[in-house]
Amino acid sequence: MKLVSPSLLSADFGNLQRDIEMLNQSECDWLHVDVMDGIFVPNISFGQPIVKHIKRHAKKPLDVHLMIMDPGRYINDFKEAGADILTVHYEACTHLDRTIHAIHDAGMKAGVVLNPHTAVCLLEDIVQECDLVLLMSVNPGFGGQKFIENTYNKVRQLHTLCDRKNQQCLIEVDGGVNLQNAPLLFEAGADVLVAGNAVFKSSDPKQTIHELKQ
Ligand code: DX5
Ligand code: ZN
Repeated sequence: MKLVSPSLLSADFGNLQRDIEMLNQSECDWLHVDVMDGIFVPNISFGQPIVKHIKRHAKKPLDVHLMIMDPGRYINDFKEAGADILTVHYEACTHLDRTIHAIHDAGMKAGVVLNPHTAVCLLEDIVQECDLVLLMSVNPGFGGQKFIENTYNKVRQLHTLCDRKNQQCLIEVDGGVNLQNAPLLFEAGADVLVAGNAVFKSSDPKQTIHELKQ
C-alpha cells in the first residue's frame, strides 16, 4: 500500500480551514495530527479542541499521533474529538496492551509508535494487537528535521516481524520524509508516509502529494 498522511503541524494555523480544504482536494489518504504535551516531547502543539475543529472540515480519516505521557488517560477525549486512528508511543505507556485494547474498544484503529532509539524487536508481544506501527525517523517534537537513515533497516525488520506473526499491520514512517527518500521507504516496505515540511513548504503541495505517492 502507498498512502500519504500530510502532517498539519506544518500547516498555516491561521488558515487551517484553507489548508485542510486543500488536502481534501488532494490525493492524500489521511490527515496526520500531532498532539504534543511539552513533557514527553519538548514542544507543545495543541489538544482536543483543535482536533475537533480539524474534524469539522476534514473529509479524510484523522491519523492522530499522541506525543504525550500516559496517553491512556485521553482515549475517549480523542475519540469524541474525531480521531479515526490513534497512535501512542511505546515509551509513554506503562500498560501498552491495555491502552491498545482501550483504543479498539473506543472504536478507533490503534497504532504503536517507536522513537528512533527503540528497537523493533520490543514489539514481539504487541504487534499482533496493532493495526499499524509508526516508526519515527526523527526525534519527535518538531517538524522540518533531518531524516535518520537507520529507519530503512527498521522498516525491513518490522516487515519481517509482521510476516512471521502473520499480522497485516500497516507500517508508517514519520519525520524528514521527502521526494528523495519516499520511493526508498516504499521499496523497503513502508505503507504510509507522513510528510509535513515536504508538503506544506513546497510551491505546489497537491503536486508534491501526487509525487510522494508515485
Ligand atoms: C514530529 C512529528 C511529525 C512532523 C513531521 O515530531 O511527529 O509528524 O510534523 O514533519 P516533517 O515531515 O517536516 O519532518
Ligand atoms: Zn507525527
